[in-house]
Parts: sequence; C-alpha cells; structure tokens
Amino acid sequence: MEKKELLYEGKAKKVFSTTDPDLRVVVFKDTTTAFDGLKKEELEGKGVYNNRISSIIFELLEAKGIPTHFVKSLGEREMLVKALHIIPIEIVARNITAGSLTKRIGLDEGTPLSRTVLEMNLKNDELHDPMLNRYHIYALELAEPNELDRIETVALEINAILREYFKSLKITLVDFKMEFGRHKGEILLGDEISPDSCRFWDAETGEKMDKDRFRRDMGDVMEAYREVQRRMEGVR
Ligand code: TMP
Ligand code: ASP
Repeated sequence: MEKKELLYEGKAKKVFSTTDPDLRVVVFKDTTTAFDGLKKEELEGKGVYNNRISSIIFELLEAKGIPTHFVKSLGEREMLVKALHIIPIEIVARNITAGSLTKRIGLDEGTPLSRTVLEMNLKNDELHDPMLNRYHIYALELAEPNELDRIETVALEINAILREYFKSLKITLVDFKMEFGRHKGEILLGDEISPDSCRFWDAETGEKMDKDRFRRDMGDVMEAYREVQRRMEGVR
C-alpha cells in the first residue's frame, strides 16, 4: 500500500493517506517528547521498537477479539491501519499508583490499587490533557453514553489481556494510555501501545522499562525498549 499525502504529523508519528480512503499508513518517528512536548530528543531506533511492540500487541488483542485499527505491519517503522475518526479522549488504565495519580491523591508510587482505575483526559497538549468526567464528555459532545460504555468495557478487557500477557514476560503493567476512534459505525482501539504510552516495570527488579526513563533522565532509554521487544519476541 502506497503512502500518498501527509494528513497529520504528531510528536511521535506521521499519518499518511493511501489509495484506499479507508486505510492509512502510520510512520513511527524517533522523536521522543515528555511534558507535552517541553522536553524533546531524537532517540535512534525508537520508532522501530514502538512499531514492532505496538504491532505485536495489536495482533494479540485482535486474536483475543478486541477490534483495533491495526491491519498489518508494513516495514520497520510503518503500519497499515483503518482510518479512524479519533475520539479526542485519552483513556488511562491504572493497576498500580504512579505518575500523575501519585501527585493527585498523595500516595507513594508503587501502591497496588484494589481495582483497576480508568481515567479520561481531554487530548489537548496546550491544556495539559485535563481530566474529564462523563458530564464534561457529554456536554462537550465528545462521545455518546453508549460509546463511552463500550470504550470502558473494552478498555478493561484490554487491561486484563495485557496484564496477563506482560506478567508472562515478567513485566508488570503499571498503567497505560489508550485512544479509540470510530470506523464504519464501530469503535476501534487506535493509536499505539508501546513503552511511550505504558509504564512497564521489571517484575523481579522493579526497574523501569518505559518512557519514564526519558522523563526522569534515568538513561538507557532505548536499552529498556529493546529489552521489552526482546522479551515479547521470545528471544531469551
Ligand atoms: P500519567 O501518570 O502521567 O497521567 O500517565 C499515565 C499513563 O499514560 C502512563 O502510562 C503514560 C501514559 N501517557 C501517555 O501515553 N501520554 C501522555 O500524554 C501522558 C501524560 C501519559
Ligand atoms: N506524551 C506527552 C508528551 O509527549 C506527555 C508524556 O508522555 O509525558 O509530551
């Protein structure tokens, strides 16, 4: 499938149209940002790791019956996806406290939550992705109640599948972010699921294996992404 016109360039990805109006090509960049783009670096190979890791995750989820935008991997840093009308809400699933939740509710990082927490944030960097509740979402007409019900159900299913999968790789899925969109009347999981959008901790050592290494200047960022990919590909 040929890339045609650049439709959108985000911080970490580019989206191109194709000859088929229902399909798009996503290109994963090496650009790595944090704090809504305030901190920015090129990390060589990041796009390749994230494309590979996301592709494996989308294939796993599809195999488990979760509808996603993923069609196929096209090359080292490209995937073919279904064209989505993206719903501008970032859904975060949390199993263990970390990041902004620790600041918001004053708990130490690493406290297990007695049940999964779902959060919804407006996708808007300038406003720093403010948290929304259902009243905001309906008032702003971002999604219908039945769509949000579906998104929440699917988000919890995705969390259950990925938690189990990463546990088998000795990785703890602490939290992660999802985006959903509409395609021909169906709600599909979109965007990416990668160490950019997840918190992964080594189950044995607790070592961080995700973008927090970049956010917190911990070093060895790409080494951590490579290790996540290595475990996913079963190379031991
Ligand atoms: P947070 O603790 O900073 O709110 O992040 C929760 C999860 O969402 C974490 O796994 C990182 C991911 N995330 C993104 O993918 N994009 C973002 O813009 C932010 C703020 C978080
Ligand atoms: N994704 C956001 C950024 O690129 C925030 C983050 O991941 O920390 O700035």
